[in-house]
Amino acid sequence: MTTRLTIRRPDDWHLHVRDGEMLKAVLPYTARHFGRAILMPNLVPPVRTTAEAIAYRERVLAALPKGSRFTPLMTCYLTDDTDPDDVERGFRDGVITGVKLYPANATTNSAAGVTDYGKISRVLERMEKIGMPFLMHGEEVAADVDIFDREAAFIERRLSKWVKQFPGLRMTLEHLSSKDGADFVKSAAPQVGGTITPYHLNLTRTDWLGGGLKPMLYAMPVIKTATDRAALRKAATSGAACYFLGTDSAPHPLAKKVAVSGVPGIFNAPVALATYARVFEEEGALDKLEAFASLNGPKHYRLPVNADTITLEKSPWTAPEDVRVAGPDGRALVYRGGETIAWRVAE
Ligand code: DOR
Ligand code: ZN
Repeated sequence: MTTRLTIRRPDDWHLHVRDGEMLKAVLPYTARHFGRAILMPNLVPPVRTTAEAIAYRERVLAALPKGSRFTPLMTCYLTDDTDPDDVERGFRDGVITGVKLYPANATTNSAAGVTDYGKISRVLERMEKIGMPFLMHGEEVAADVDIFDREAAFIERRLSKWVKQFPGLRMTLEHLSSKDGADFVKSAAPQVGGTITPYHLNLTRTDWLGGGLKPMLYAMPVIKTATDRAALRKAATSGAACYFLGTDSAPHPLAKKVAVSGVPGIFNAPVALATYARVFEEEGALDKLEAFASLNGPKHYRLPVNADTITLEKSPWTAPEDVRVAGPDGRALVYRGGETIAWRVAE
């Protein structure tokens, strides 16, 4: 039985660290183990321009623990009015790694997202021309689409068309949540890659809704069926280059999670690597963890792999229940908080 595993240092290709007090509270959990992370721009207000990305990056760097060598990779939030020249400048100057699509009202802080896909063609053409990655919250939020079918409908109505219309555009379908999503990415690789979260690999909608409603397990895209989970586990542990690690760790103050109209997002950074390791172990695929966590992402984003390594070991510890954040309730709950966790990163 494998109890120790040394792999290249991993990266998180989809992460929310927020801003202000929350940023300071949550960033260290990622910076401790990951070399880089792609930071999502859905702040209030969103990070919409190169200038805003520069300012946000400064705040992130200032929130890093002393001596940290973690590198934040910035994204710019696509709107109907995004200026192709601005994102090109940001990409060429090394400020912005990619542009992020939120369909308007698909998820947390997406009200300023895209409302008219006709208006973003010029930006996509420019990104295709300069080799700039396009990151997608791939859900179709039209009223006729059931929430469990949003990913499949987005693929059918949008992504499958863009793949043909912009054959040179490199795309990431974020937080794959369905068999349809995993299958599509495979069929469109290497042009399209997909990130997979620890919780979509771990949970089904029965865990979320079946034994007492668990608002802490509410995330977008919503957690789906056991068939979908099985397909995602097979995809992630296959070693195929088109699938890579993206935690979608998304902290919220507890009061917002348990409100009458609760917010989507699962704060999993403190247990992310341990949870992935458990999944790969259960699937008999620990030998594929390095590809998923540390090699496939850099390949998709055309970045070097991290030079150093981390060691995962089987040695039980208890996950923290919460982290202290500003606000009336003062805490954000941690996914799997209080559980005994089998794997840890050796310090
Ligand atoms: O569950 C989610 N939470 N999905 C997203 O796409 C956004 C995220 C957030 O920002 O809280
Ligand atoms: Zn996200």
